[in-house]
Amino acid sequence: MVEDLERTLWESSSMSQLPGGGVSRDMSRLSSMTRGLGPQAVCSILGVNRRPLFSFLGFLAMMFLPAQVRSVSNEIVATSNEDITEDQERSLAFMHWGQWVDHDMDLAPMTQTSIDNKQVECDTSCNYAPPCFPIKTPGSRSPASACPFIWTAPACNPTTYVREQLNAITSYLDASMVYGSEEALARSLRNHSNDLGLMALNQDFTDHGLGLLPFENKTKSLCLYTNKTANIPCFQGGDKRATENLGLTAMHTMFVREHNRLATELKRMNPHWGGEKLYQEARKIVDAENQVITFRDYLPLVLGNEFYKQLPLYTGYNESVDPTVANVFSLAFRFGHGSIPPLVPRLDENFKPLAPFFSAPLHLTFCASWRIPMEGGIDPLVRGILADHSKLMKQNQMMVEELQERLFEQTEHIGLDLASLNLQRGRDHGLPGRESTAPSPNYQRSFCRLQRMYRPPRNQKFSKYTQIYYLSHLFTHIYTRLW
Ligand code: HEM
Repeated sequence: MVEDLERTLWESSSMSQLPGGGVSRDMSRLSSMTRGLGPQAVCSILGVNRRPLFSFLGFLAMMFLPAQVRSVSNEIVATSNEDITEDQERSLAFMHWGQWVDHDMDLAPMTQTSIDNKQVECDTSCNYAPPCFPIKTPGSRSPASACPFIWTAPACNPTTYVREQLNAITSYLDASMVYGSEEALARSLRNHSNDLGLMALNQDFTDHGLGLLPFENKTKSLCLYTNKTANIPCFQGGDKRATENLGLTAMHTMFVREHNRLATELKRMNPHWGGEKLYQEARKIVDAENQVITFRDYLPLVLGNEFYKQLPLYTGYNESVDPTVANVFSLAFRFGHGSIPPLVPRLDENFKPLAPFFSAPLHLTFCASWRIPMEGGIDPLVRGILADHSKLMKQNQMMVEELQERLFEQTEHIGLDLASLNLQRGRDHGLPGRESTAPSPNYQRSFCRLQRMYRPPRNQKFSKYTQIYYLSHLFTHIYTRLW
């Protein structure tokens, strides 16, 4: 299987570009995501860089969409930190691998906030001036209570004239989160001080003698806000979200170490190989390892028996398949946000809580790079990932407060709400709702080959249609109030 996957990777990296494809050779090119579901927003005849029609649609959406996203989030998604159930069948590695593999495939970049040479401050403005699409707090008019939101950078599909969103990274499972999606970044992540094909490591800190990721080269790193005295910037990985949470940083660190381990071993076996050959061969193996873990171990845990029905056995590389990440995938794959527990466990060599650093509240670990060198390195985190549990994804326990109230609280002017961001991003990307009537009913349900569902008359409970009493009750409450 490893050979097959290696070959896939090899073939995919030498293939010609597919339209809007996963980007292989020309790594610097941004590609747009594809629209698996129907177009919801048409590119402006004035062009996407000027004031687009979508800003008007966005405005209409906010005025007439059935519910403000924050209301939906508060009433349906919010779950107190204490009110969660552990997933007895999935370790915390399930959650982390989901995020890890997602960061290999998609990153919707923000629109630049400089429009017509004026700086638009989406952080402090409550207006729907492009590219701001603020999430308002129900019942509040204060800009300070609005959750900042910036449109994803748009792209106009030249064939369909549908407004698309850009994907800033390669869609392929090519370990771009380790090596970068652009040539220049890939080069800067390498160790150029010798000819051993190694990845660069941190010059200021080690972790019990082992390497850590290098620091990013920015004048004002976000991570500095999380501990003003430590003065430790964010780490740099192949994906710019590498320091978003501690477990994710541990994954990045492990795979950079794995690259260096492989390159060193390859050098021992092939002393005549130069640095470039060692780097490329080690990279190919790291890519293959990631593909194997994803297909063999992770996807069956996500899809259950459906995995074997939906994904036929691999029979070779098929270059007629467009590998571009679908727009809807970049939203649907956020399902994993429901599997995130509120605490970050750290365990000692005996898999007991690491005193005094056990269980940091999740919101205090976002962008907290300082906790890696100053609170025990990555081993305690990796033990926690292996031995602790993911949160069970339940319809009445969707997303913990740490994410729904306190996301990036230490680096933003208010704590953000990940559920609201997800819902608003769905509107930003113009994806039809589950029962959307535009452009035709039941888009997502038909896409998933589910039976069509019709909206019940106002006074009827959704439970008749959904069979889930708890959710039906909430939906009925929110939707009948707002329509
Ligand atoms: C502590 C863990 C995590 C945190 C703090 C986190 C946070 C975030 C944030 C802030 C965004 C951008 C929201 C927006 O503005 O639209 C995002 C996007 C996303 N997340 Fe997570 N996430 C976590 C774990 C996961 C997991 C476990 C998965 C999947 C299994 C996942 C999948 C995604 C996907 C697919 C996107 C869209 C990426 C893009 O195309 O830009 N995340 N997440």
